[in-house]
Amino acid sequence: MGKILVTGGCGYIGSHTVVDLIEHGYDIISVDNLINSKEGVIDNIKSITGVEIKNYEVDLCDDEALKTVFAENPDITGVIHFAALKAVGESVEQPVLYFRNNINGLISLVDCCVNSNVKHFIFSSSCTVYGNVEHLPCTEKSPIREAESPYGRTKQISEMIIEDSFRPTDVKAINLRYFNPAGAHISNKLGEDPKKVALNLVPVITETALGLRDKTVVFGDQYDTRDGSCIRDFIHVMDLADAHTKALQFLETSPKAKALDVFNLGIGQGVTVLEAIHAFEKVSGQKLNYEIGPPRPGDVIAIYADYSKAREELGWNPEKNIEDIMETSWKWANR
Ligand code: NAD
Ligand code: WQD
Repeated sequence: MGKILVTGGCGYIGSHTVVDLIEHGYDIISVDNLINSKEGVIDNIKSITGVEIKNYEVDLCDDEALKTVFAENPDITGVIHFAALKAVGESVEQPVLYFRNNINGLISLVDCCVNSNVKHFIFSSSCTVYGNVEHLPCTEKSPIREAESPYGRTKQISEMIIEDSFRPTDVKAINLRYFNPAGAHISNKLGEDPKKVALNLVPVITETALGLRDKTVVFGDQYDTRDGSCIRDFIHVMDLADAHTKALQFLETSPKAKALDVFNLGIGQGVTVLEAIHAFEKVSGQKLNYEIGPPRPGDVIAIYADYSKAREELGWNPEKNIEDIMETSWKWANR
């Protein structure tokens, strides 16, 4: 078995996936320039798995440095590509930063892959590629609509680059479209620990409960949903990690693996923002200071996944729910 290169291995989803891959016997190296993560993550991965992986502190956009990583590791057979900037609001303010980092980084990486021994490629895509979906649950056949942000466009464009660039090669690729990842590792040694401010719902809730924020503002409660707040499909980061391992095993061993495939990764159940808050209150045993505010521009009202394709083809069954997410996130916030 060759090596697996994980880009963004020190980041949130990447680090949890590295742990799962190591536990399934994979030999991992990471490329992460630490723009949104900390090197200490490598020690935490070691303390969970007993294995110390090497992280190359390299910017993917630096073609020459990336080529050196591939030259030093000619036995890389698979790549899982997490490294990207991901803040929707920041991408609206600094679109060029997002196109340069997420698109140039991908192009350098794909170029190295097609000129090396890489056979399998997995990409972190997002439900954001679907824009405002008309029919729920959202399947892989739901139309790709106008993206809500430059960040969303980088995911749509990246999927196209992957499709076209690997077509003339024997590299097989999978785009994994995550819904709303949250939660932390059960050991409490890994979780979301970004350098940039996290503005997603779950960290906002835990920061409020810790007193780091005055309150959580619910962005709108007059939508046409069961309690008026938006609906999302929150997926535990360890279920996501498991999906990456299964996707890689599928590419390596299944005769059904195609040149290019795509899978939705969610739990298939929509949870409203207010339900998420109540799940937090239940598992933490404390009231959250929240208030209803105006809708956030650009928010999709409701989105959740049909993940039956991942269940049937990858054998993936997410096991954790919103309470598991809140429990592990709360423990992580209190570490
Ligand atoms: P993260 O910021 O925690 O991890 C990304 C990692 O990539 C960071 O460690 C960062 O330092 C690194 N990185 C970024 N640009 C780089 C570059 N040019 N060169 C080298 N390293 C670079 O984010 P995450 O939540 O773990 O997200 C991982 C992937 O999943 C991203 O592609 C993101 O767009 C995608 N995704 C995330 C979510 C989510 O809500 N977290 C949802 C859907 C898709
Ligand atoms: C969730 C819900 C907010 C904060 C984003 C990206 C998406 C994907 C996942 C990467 C929404 C509400 C939030 C707050 C609130 N990422 N909310 N108060 O917007 O669903 O998805 O992350 O690919 O592409 O767009 O996630 O966590 O920001 O919001 O009421 O302080 O919580 O309105 O309904 P979102 P989120």
